[in-house]
Amino acid sequence: MEKKIVLTGDRPTGPLHLGHYKGSLKNRLLLQKNYQQYIMIADIQALTDNYDKPEILEENIFHILACYLAVGLDPDKNFFFLQSKIPELAELTIYFMNLVSLSRVQRNPTIKEELKQKGFEETVQVGFLCYPISQAADILLFKSNLIPVGNDQLPMIEQTNEIAKTFNHTYKKEFFTHVEPLVSNTGRLIGIDGKSKMSKSIKNALFLNDSKEKLSENIMKMYTDPLHLKISDPGQIEGNVVFTYLDTIDKNKEELEALKKHYQNGGLGDIFLKKRLLTILEELLLPIREKYIFFIHKKQLLKEILESHTQCMQKIAKKNMKEIKEIMKISYF
Ligand code: TRP
Repeated sequence: MEKKIVLTGDRPTGPLHLGHYKGSLKNRLLLQKNYQQYIMIADIQALTDNYDKPEILEENIFHILACYLAVGLDPDKNFFFLQSKIPELAELTIYFMNLVSLSRVQRNPTIKEELKQKGFEETVQVGFLCYPISQAADILLFKSNLIPVGNDQLPMIEQTNEIAKTFNHTYKKEFFTHVEPLVSNTGRLIGIDGKSKMSKSIKNALFLNDSKEKLSENIMKMYTDPLHLKISDPGQIEGNVVFTYLDTIDKNKEELEALKKHYQNGGLGDIFLKKRLLTILEELLLPIREKYIFFIHKKQLLKEILESHTQCMQKIAKKNMKEIKEIMKISYF
């Protein structure tokens, strides 16, 4: 039996951090075992809100690819490819635009939220408003079955399925099949400030390629309990980022429970806990960092992988696009 197709991707707008590792990369490591996984570096989508600073993309494209390899995504099992090198994606987006009303685009909850966040409400570019249509093209062109998503991306899958249905109905052929979201149950990792999810733009992230010194520095800055002033003071667990992180990565749950009690009763210092967290995080991140450094200095190898994988995806794109145009009756000669 043929393997089901998983399609995922990242926008190359900044370095990958622990939130990416916990929220998606780890999951992809599992998925690569049983699925045909296509992993797209979404540089076209990145341009929708960075069209005026395209120079940030190139460095991040290679950074992201080096991170994929460093965490253990296997180039023999996955296809890593660059969105802008598949012109059929842009072509399909144009055809899909006829199948979506303007009001439907404006109703997409993720878009609405992003417009608010970015202060784009009055001046939004058409390209940004239409990125869910382009994302539907990414998903449908490659006949994907499963899309790993966080909760905030669910409306994208809903819109993709709507477009697929409208296409099938309009052109009278059951061509695109239903796409299933694979919702990660990990939630989004909170940033070291304890205020919002980990994000490059808020400067509250632990990047996968940070040095041990940087990691240590950031852990020491981590938000704990502001009322826990002296070691002997009783401390709060809720909202204490050090405990939030220990909860997700400390494997010794018994010891962790004992530490929590001790902290709540007073007599346990933040520094002690932060050192424990540093040890555990360093254990996770050291091998990733070492491999990252190895790959990021092999630019030629990275280019070869990305180019050859992208070429394979171009073949699939061409074949599928031909079928799509035949169904649409626009395959003239
Ligand atoms: N929207 C995703 C992100 O911001 C990137 C992406 C683009 C994507 N096209 C996709 C993810 C298709 C899954 C499927 O990270």
